[in-house]
Amino acid sequence: MKSVLHYVLAASTVVPALANNGNNKQITVHDKKFAVSITHDEVAQRVRTLGEQISKDYAGKRPIFVGVLNGAFIFLSDLVRATDLDCEIDFIKIASYGDATTSSGTITLSKGLSCDITDRDVIVVEDIVDSGLSLQFVVDLLKKSNPRSIRVAALLDKNLCKLNFPIDYVGFNIKPEFVIGYGLDYAQAARNLKDIYTLVL
Ligand code: IMP
Ligand code: MG
Repeated sequence: MKSVLHYVLAASTVVPALANNGNNKQITVHDKKFAVSITHDEVAQRVRTLGEQISKDYAGKRPIFVGVLNGAFIFLSDLVRATDLDCEIDFIKIASYGDATTSSGTITLSKGLSCDITDRDVIVVEDIVDSGLSLQFVVDLLKKSNPRSIRVAALLDKNLCKLNFPIDYVGFNIKPEFVIGYGLDYAQAARNLKDIYTLVL
């Protein structure tokens, strides 16, 4: 049976300028080409730093990390292991993107929290902030349960939006380009790629 997903390693000379860090690997996912933009080593280093910062900020506390499914599952799993905190983990699931590479602007809740966050210190963990609508939706929803505090960690920020709260822990500020890998998908494919790839136009 022919697989829908073809990871095709293309010749590194096709668009060498788009791949950095000396890694010119290109792949094709569905109908689009992508090139490595942030290597797994760079991600791991940054996540370690964020974990250390969060450990300091929440020393003596017992925060609940709330991952936004599906995209944040890998970032969250690495981030919590980069902390030395006694913590809890829960997930919320929203749908906002469909199968396209641009935001649909419509958000629906598909899975709510399984725990009570009233009077708890909550750290929302998101994969990427694009229009900011998803994060705004999640934070507004969680605030209704009256947590003691709520902060946000986002692996990637495209810096396209003004939210009415800060993103306290940002992995990387990136250009407003479509990216995949390390949890991020294109039409549900490519979440398991170790590196982060950018769409080659
Ligand atoms: P926003 O609501 O426009 O900020 O979009 C946030 C959600 O859309 C993220 O949690 C991702 O799931 C998805 N998303 C946004 N940009 C990208 C991207 O470049 N690649 C893959 N998914 C993305
Ligand atoms: Mg997401």
